[in-house]
Amino acid sequence: MQQSEQEQQKEQVIAQNEIPDLIINPYEVVNNSKKQIDYDKLIQSFGCQRIDQAHIDRIQALTQKPVHHYLRRGIFFSHRDLTQVLDAYEAGKGFYLYTGRGPSGDSMHVGHLMPFIFTKYLQEAFDVPVVIELSDDEKFFHKSETTLEEYQRYGYENAKDIIACGFDVNKTFIFLSSQYAGHMYHNICKFQHAITYSQLRGIFGLNESDNCGKVAYPAVQAAPSLSSSFKHIFGKDEVMCLVPQGIDQDPYFRMTRDVCYKLKVPKTGCIHSQFLPGLHGFGTKMGTTDPTSAIFLTDTPKEIEEKIKKHAMSGGGMTKKEHQEKGADLTVDVPYHYLRFFLEDDARLEEIRVQYGKGVMMTSEVKKELITVITKIVTEHQQRRALVTDEIVQKFMELRPLSNYPPKKNN
Ligand code: TYM
Repeated sequence: MQQSEQEQQKEQVIAQNEIPDLIINPYEVVNNSKKQIDYDKLIQSFGCQRIDQAHIDRIQALTQKPVHHYLRRGIFFSHRDLTQVLDAYEAGKGFYLYTGRGPSGDSMHVGHLMPFIFTKYLQEAFDVPVVIELSDDEKFFHKSETTLEEYQRYGYENAKDIIACGFDVNKTFIFLSSQYAGHMYHNICKFQHAITYSQLRGIFGLNESDNCGKVAYPAVQAAPSLSSSFKHIFGKDEVMCLVPQGIDQDPYFRMTRDVCYKLKVPKTGCIHSQFLPGLHGFGTKMGTTDPTSAIFLTDTPKEIEEKIKKHAMSGGGMTKKEHQEKGADLTVDVPYHYLRFFLEDDARLEEIRVQYGKGVMMTSEVKKELITVITKIVTEHQQRRALVTDEIVQKFMELRPLSNYPPKKNN
């Protein structure tokens, strides 16, 4: 459907986040409210839609598999055109999943893992192709802390962590954008032609002193959402794309979707996750500059234990007496919040919510439970990662057809 200039401008205004105390974009996540982000307000401000029970039931019915706890608990909470993607799947046309990582260092934290864990679930549940972009160019333009070659090296290292999430090599293509760009350059050009500098400035807050790479890059993140960027997988077919991502990445895809009508291609579907805060509290973020702010995939069990015990912000009472009288404030409690993300057992999570909320369970007990859960996830991840050789990474990066495209008739 054609979109008028006026409608376009409206989408650009919506693209600005107008919630006080909250900045959320690919380059900055700041939550000065110190509490859980108000995702309903964010949905309104970004102009996306909540994933409702009907979507969840439909996913369960289409896949005939239990839905992931990220969906059941509203952690993947919002979407754009998910209904259209599911329609395409139901009609037997299939769809593909596209996600990515900006390799800014050797090690990823548990927050980075979430979209990949979820994409792996979707890959298994729907049996659809997955493409994964490692945007070494993006980090080079935006961070400029080291050489492009070093960001490429981080890309290969991060690819090992991504592969360790369990992706099927016959159904997954991973690429470094600085190396693969030539294959999708026709689509990069089309996006660059369709987007004005003033639109980019509005969405990403760029200015004249930013390097040209920052202006050129958004089209490189947009291009993989067109199936014609992957001729070795889709040939000439036009296949719908669904992008699992943290909500901070949405500006890229608002931009992508805004120009799809000009390119005469279906709008990219999106599915967004909530943001996992830093250990120090809801107003903080995870980062390498402060190793105590996050659990990294390279952490030892001892480091995990120390970080959670000493640094995970508690919503419990100041004294035992106060805690037993008033209970824990779960709206600011990081250990409980992390359990929502990482403890799969719904019944146990509910028990903790009630008992801790009433002050029957102590913070030390909740932290102990979190230490057990996260240590298991990280240790098992490290074991799988140790088996990922350079040759295996190369296999994922080879240009080749994927075994689950075209979709089988009975999908
Ligand atoms: P990057 O490397 O910053 O993050 C990778 C993915 O992890 C998500 N994420 C988080 N999710 C929840 N809680 C957190 N604390 C958290 N931190 C990061 C991000 O939203 C992202 O989904 N520009 C991208 C790389 C990219 C990409 C893509 C991402 C290229 N193409 C397509 C998604 C979809 C980036 O720098 O991600």
